[in-house]
Amino acid sequence: MKPLIFNFPSEETLAQSLVKKNSAEKGLWNHRLFPDGESYLQILSELQNREVILLCSLNQPDSKLLPLIFFSEAARELGASKITLVAPYLAYMRQDKRFQKGEALTSDYFAKIISKYFEELITIDPHLHRRKSLDEIYAIPSKVLHAAPLLSEWILENVKNPVLIGPDEESEQWVSEVAGRANAAFTVLRKSRHGDRDVEVSIPDLENYKDCVPVLVDDIISSGKTMIAAVQHLRKQTSLPVICMGVHAIFGGTAYKDLMASGVGQVVTCNSIQHESNGISVEKLISDALKLNSK
Ligand code: R5P
Repeated sequence: MKPLIFNFPSEETLAQSLVKKNSAEKGLWNHRLFPDGESYLQILSELQNREVILLCSLNQPDSKLLPLIFFSEAARELGASKITLVAPYLAYMRQDKRFQKGEALTSDYFAKIISKYFEELITIDPHLHRRKSLDEIYAIPSKVLHAAPLLSEWILENVKNPVLIGPDEESEQWVSEVAGRANAAFTVLRKSRHGDRDVEVSIPDLENYKDCVPVLVDDIISSGKTMIAAVQHLRKQTSLPVICMGVHAIFGGTAYKDLMASGVGQVVTCNSIQHESNGISVEKLISDALKLNSK
């Protein structure tokens, strides 16, 4: 029997195309809030012995977690044989360490909750920093997909003579791979974070890349402060347009507006999170991963 693909509203376009390409069936469900803010949820598709795939990008995770849990509980009670969570963006990966006494290790706790309610997890470039693999915190099998080839492809098609710049040491893992595939040079800056929205990055040394278009590459753009600090340095060194590329377009609050006002030439992100800066589709990545899964 074909797997059923359910989705949260923000993943509608992605879900429709995945359904088409994976000869899956679209799952039907309703979710709304009662006047008091509690969730009402109803699964309309027949689930007995069916494999269920739930597509939900986990930006703004706190408001999505309860509906996610309720969906899983209901789907199980209705007879689903397996429930896979496809979260193109996986939240709660950054607090993986207790920096100060008493802090909650939210990445561990979030992983415990997701592992309890789903049988498998598929995600794109989770923010693995101090951890080597999701297996260190997730008790369920996970499939990690990588956007680097898509970013390289975009650069090859759209930027003549690029030099790639990672805004901090952590970004080296992505930047080096994207640069390799795009036949471009790369350099990595150093970053000091003094607060959620207080970031300093080192001045890039572009002495050898004077005629190159600077392309900043990061996995997450959240407050935008990392990108903004790097763009401000670059604007002093080159008159060529600075391009910012991010995998996950979180853009909290006024982040996107602030980044656009910083003098950046172009901002391009993947549609792992729906956003107006999306210019790269992860649809094939997920589609290929699901093909391996579908029976
Ligand atoms: C670092 O941990 C990440 O790779 C990103 O650099 C970071 O999340 C970006 O955050 P923001 O946009 O808030 O500076």
